[in-house]
Amino acid sequence: MHLHTGLLTLCFGWAFAFYPNRECPDVGLSDLTDEDITRNAILTAVATFMEGNPLPGKPGFKPGELVDLVPLTPTSLFKAYFRADVSPNQFIQAIQNIVTGNDEVERLYAQQSDYHFHCEQITKSITLFQQYRDEIFTQIKVSKDKMDVNAYEKAQLKMGMALHILQKFYSNTNWVEMGKRTTYRHLVNASDPVFPIASSAIKTCKDCLPTESGSLNCSGNLLVDNLLTSGYKKLETCAAKPKGKCGHGGKYDETRLQSPTGGINKETANPELSPHSNLHDKAARLAENATVEFFIGPGFGFLDSLGPSVFRKFFNLQGYSLSFVIDTTSSMSDEINLVKTICINIIKKVMNSSDAPYNYVLVPFNDPSFGPAIVTHDVAYFQSQIGALTATGGDDCPEMSMNGLKLALANSEPRSNIFLFTDAGAKDVALLDEVMIQASSVETQIYPMLTGYCSASGDVVEDNEYMKLAKVTGQHYTRVQKGKLNSVLGITELALNSAPAVLVQVTERTKKLLFYVDETLRELSISVKKNNDVPFYFFLLTPGDTDKTRSRRKRAVTMDAKVSSLVNTTNYQVVKVQVTQPGQWAVEMSSLDTYTFEIAGKSLLDFSYKIMEEKNGYVLPIQGRPEKGAEYILSVAVEGDSGKLTLTRVIIFDETGKINKAYDVNKSTDSRGQLRVSVPVRFNLTSFTLGIAGKTESGSEFHRCKPHLIRTESISLKLSEGQKSTLTEGTSLNVLVIASNVGPDQTFTFNVKDELSLMRSFNPQSILIAQGQNVTLTATFEAPKPLSQQLSSLVTFTAKGGTSTNYLKSVITVVPEVKEIPDQDPPQYNITQLGDICKGKKKSVQVCKSHNWDLEFQAWDNISGVFVELGLPAAEIPPVYSLNCNDTIISGVSWASCQYSSDCCYPHVSLILTDATGNANLLDVDFRDSQKESWSSAPRIQSSVVLAVSLLSAIFY
Ligand SMILES: *[C@@H]1O[C@H](CO)[C@@H](O)[C@H](O)[C@H]1NC(C)=O
Ligand SMILES: *[C@@H]1O[C@H](CO)[C@@H](O)[C@H](O)[C@H]1NC(C)=O
Ligand SMILES: *[C@@H]1O[C@H](CO)[C@@H](O)[C@H](O)[C@H]1NC(C)=O
Ligand SMILES: *[C@@H]1O[C@H](CO)[C@@H](O)[C@H](O)[C@H]1NC(C)=O
Repeated sequence: MHLHTGLLTLCFGWAFAFYPNRECPDVGLSDLTDEDITRNAILTAVATFMEGNPLPGKPGFKPGELVDLVPLTPTSLFKAYFRADVSPNQFIQAIQNIVTGNDEVERLYAQQSDYHFHCEQITKSITLFQQYRDEIFTQIKVSKDKMDVNAYEKAQLKMGMALHILQKFYSNTNWVEMGKRTTYRHLVNASDPVFPIASSAIKTCKDCLPTESGSLNCSGNLLVDNLLTSGYKKLETCAAKPKGKCGHGGKYDETRLQSPTGGINKETANPELSPHSNLHDKAARLAENATVEFFIGPGFGFLDSLGPSVFRKFFNLQGYSLSFVIDTTSSMSDEINLVKTICINIIKKVMNSSDAPYNYVLVPFNDPSFGPAIVTHDVAYFQSQIGALTATGGDDCPEMSMNGLKLALANSEPRSNIFLFTDAGAKDVALLDEVMIQASSVETQIYPMLTGYCSASGDVVEDNEYMKLAKVTGQHYTRVQKGKLNSVLGITELALNSAPAVLVQVTERTKKLLFYVDETLRELSISVKKNNDVPFYFFLLTPGDTDKTRSRRKRAVTMDAKVSSLVNTTNYQVVKVQVTQPGQWAVEMSSLDTYTFEIAGKSLLDFSYKIMEEKNGYVLPIQGRPEKGAEYILSVAVEGDSGKLTLTRVIIFDETGKINKAYDVNKSTDSRGQLRVSVPVRFNLTSFTLGIAGKTESGSEFHRCKPHLIRTESISLKLSEGQKSTLTEGTSLNVLVIASNVGPDQTFTFNVKDELSLMRSFNPQSILIAQGQNVTLTATFEAPKPLSQQLSSLVTFTAKGGTSTNYLKSVITVVPEVKEIPDQDPPQYNITQLGDICKGKKKSVQVCKSHNWDLEFQAWDNISGVFVELGLPAAEIPPVYSLNCNDTIISGVSWASCQYSSDCCYPHVSLILTDATGNANLLDVDFRDSQKESWSSAPRIQSSVVLAVSLLSAIFY
């Protein structure tokens, strides 16, 4: 496909772990990426949870009924769990946030070996993972009832980062090579036993063998099969590959040709990139299982640690909110009564259906007060709370509506609908951008319902803040005269939809609008708005309607029993239609004019998208809004439950809904139920929306679009290359952000805000940036001291100038000072007696069986106890042997006095001495060489500790 040629030059660079996601062309079909692993694990964990927690009043599930769904996708899972068409959009968003956090590690911590288990940083990586997990768990536990949608978003991002570390264990250590077919439980449950780790002195790898084709064959390059080790990769935090130590390997590993050559990574199924590519699948499956255990491991997992209600909330399993933000100043009493009666009646109609919202949110606002937010599941209580609102005060006209919206957004589930009732402008209009950004990031739609307007300045505003807000969040701006609100409240019914999908949203001068209705659509709403007051009506034509049948009908819309009218005013009409026949439908207008159409409906066929950029050789989701004219990769995933779908076009629409650019593609649902394409794009419009077109399995055409307007900006903010984001308690950190302006010369003002108020100052506050130039914004953060636990703070940088605004969100992590250097020293030992009776010529079984040899040694560790075990491969373990140790503690040091003995048919032993942290040493004694070779050679003793073992006075026989 010619579209993808541009991508081939991307994604070169480093390759650290499993690849982040499927957008990178280096990723083969059989590769499992970080995203695949995370997504599959979440689906399994959530399906398991759902099986155990059926909806109240619904029948339970048989074991496996949800977990074994084929394919197991968010859509198939939601449909089976709710036993109804319920959109998994919010759940998909939670998955996306976790995956973004996972991907972010490649952006923020690419140079840190402990985020990747590189360079034998095994203990450090485990500790780091556990710190992340503990912080997330504690944070949620402590602020459970105060956790709003932003706090959950941050927890999802952090969780993704933690999972990245966990998953790397399987691609970058030798766990899989050791033949392990279960997960390393100690990682997710610290009380599970620790596995011995090769100390720095133990050689772990030998050279790989050069092949005829010039590449390396690394099978069997590991020298240890009972100790954990990992590959070295040259990074800022890892200067070199020591002698005798494994490499990471693959064509992006600079030291792959330095002895020991090659490496051990299993991040892909491609031998060019991964020396142990044959084990990729095993490693990825274990990483997936470990991720499942992280979430639902009995007793220690996320679910058992935090409980089912947090679990539901964390994964957005609970549907959407219907939220009302109501102006309670004295002029609003009639409106409040209408909302109470009309809206509540509409809500009651769907109350017990799957279309009902998960909960209701009510936020009153006045001047200067606003809130509190009332959040409830109970319709009667909600009704009484609306009824109890009193309309008073608010002397001057504009009120605190943006604060009200902000509060409602924080208290609503993602992808909710918020109705705003007011007759005044926003006094706090400075918050408009923040509200827009927040609404867009959770894809919540805001419906401003105005019965008047006055601006703060008293001027008439052509394009008021509510229009701007509506334009960005779904085009639902309504303004009627006082006393006429009842005629438009019917649109509340459109918001009560458990699987909303938009087909067409367009403003055009026309007499007839054609559109495709696919068979997944259950019901359809047709909304038509006009800018003038010339009355209009329209015919609705279904595929069966010929010109003849149509001519017999007058106002087809109202004649048909399956059509109901929700709104009917001079310039705004909304009807709801039951779909009887898929195919090409049309709306025919009574006269040629400019109309705004929105055709929407209920369907599980929908899509999600990510705007991505090339970074560190990977393709990662962008931060903030896209920059006008810059190159991006647009990744589109189609969701649906209707078998095989084919995507044929990805479409960029301008603000009016006209096609700006369409990319032809041709891809169908794969065996895992996924359908995803990426196309290289350049957004040269100031704002745009996205849509797709394709075919269902039966061949009927489908169209979908996202009503959210995406803005491009001439200003962009990016973390400077190699920027650190971690600081130790009591220290400070400068975070450098590059602000680039591709628009005309402009003065920009900056702002930096962080949750925990760690930011002390930033500079400059405001500066002129010429076209094509950039400036560096420096923000100084200070970490508190003392600190008992890792903390993180979500930081938002914003830049604003002229009509351009952009933002960057980043997480700053504060870690406690390392009070003691983690124990890196393996236990030591001293051989006190070594019987050498087996030395000499190899004897027959009869003879060797009748002679025993002994080894006595003392092992000690300065920090913890020593655990001694046999480290021989199964085939070399003697049928009869003894290994006994006595432990004593002498002035704080743990000593183990041990004896080992076996017969001379097994004239060698390998003992693993491990401390509590996993640091391990090997004690090897081997008489086999001496048996084969000369009489005088000493037994081979291999260890890191230089020993006086020449005490052997050979007793030959
Ligand atoms: C992962 O877990 C599943 C379910 O417990 C199990 O059937 C499967 O064998 C495990 N896979 C691996 C690679 O351990
Ligand atoms: C809309 O209202 C007009 C007059 O008020 C009425 O004639 C017409 O039938 C209504 N249309 C719908 C679709 O209900
Ligand atoms: C915007 O991009 C589209 C698609 O690449 C292109 O057809 C169009 O000419 C561009 N418009 C401008 C003004 O650059
Ligand atoms: C910033 O501008 C300088 C000089 O114009 C340029 O060399 C540099 O590449 C720019 N940096 C970024 C991140 O755009």
